[in-house]
Amino acid sequence: MSKIPVIIDVDTGIDDAMALVLALQSDKLEIRGITTVAGNQTIEKTTRNTIDVVEYFGRGEIPVAMGASQPLVRPQIIAAYAHGESGLGTAVLPKAEKQPEELDAVSFIKKVLEESEEKITLVPTGPLTNIAILLKAYPHIKDNIKEIVLMGGGAFQGNSNATAEFNIFADPEAASVVFNSGVKLVMCGLDVTMKALVTPDEVAQIKAIGNKAGDFIAEALEFYMAMYKKNANFIGCAVHDAVTITYLIAPELIKTRQGIAKVDIDGKDSYAATICDFRPWRDKEKDNALVGVDIDREAFVKLLMDACKNY
Ligand code: RIB
Ligand code: CA
Repeated sequence: MSKIPVIIDVDTGIDDAMALVLALQSDKLEIRGITTVAGNQTIEKTTRNTIDVVEYFGRGEIPVAMGASQPLVRPQIIAAYAHGESGLGTAVLPKAEKQPEELDAVSFIKKVLEESEEKITLVPTGPLTNIAILLKAYPHIKDNIKEIVLMGGGAFQGNSNATAEFNIFADPEAASVVFNSGVKLVMCGLDVTMKALVTPDEVAQIKAIGNKAGDFIAEALEFYMAMYKKNANFIGCAVHDAVTITYLIAPELIKTRQGIAKVDIDGKDSYAATICDFRPWRDKEKDNALVGVDIDREAFVKLLMDACKNY
């Protein structure tokens, strides 16, 4: 079976790193490039973390291009409370020599898409700033995109507030551009990612693998679990971003619903909410998204553990 060509856009962060650990070892993906955006931390830190993760897991040949340092309109918010000052919790990786590409993220994605003989899947796991700029600056480029499999939003829940999820809340105007673009979306929002839970016992099993991947992931997830416990008295943590890669390499583990998804940029309390219309009598011609609603949690955790063992 041919590999799926992808460009992954990250704000590495702990769960972005988990998504990369899954993607970098998968024989089902052809990673044409990785781009970075500010979100969990500043653009300098998310880029540094991304390069260090890619190098550490032996895929230094994959180009990494640095992207947007700020959201399009709203004041910047950074999720240091969730991912720590470095963006990777207390986990420390060797500093890679590798530098980001000369091209910025948007120019890089444009170049790769235009030069590709086949359509490419974009996999954003942070704020959608880079993707929005790409679609606005080069509208024709939509024809080179197969679909956008994103972590973001929530049909029935938020985390940054009652209705907004962080990746959308960090740049709602960018998300609105992407959701209104007409490109087919797979929205891996909180409805599915909050079920992609890893328990303390499973993190201990990852640690017991006893290799570099297990050590790194266990330490990063221990920090993430401590944040969930402190902020929500929650046992375990949700590995949000890894759900996007899971959808691509093991789609049978994810249940989705088709509907119309858009981003509210006009509301007050609902600002940055992802409004998902699943009504049977909706205008189905306007369907633009498959929205993740469930995951086989045990199989997801096994996928993560097996990925660790492959390093
Ligand atoms: O709401 C979860 C999302 O926000 C994840 O992408 C996490 O990395 C943070 O960016
Ligand atoms: Ca992220």
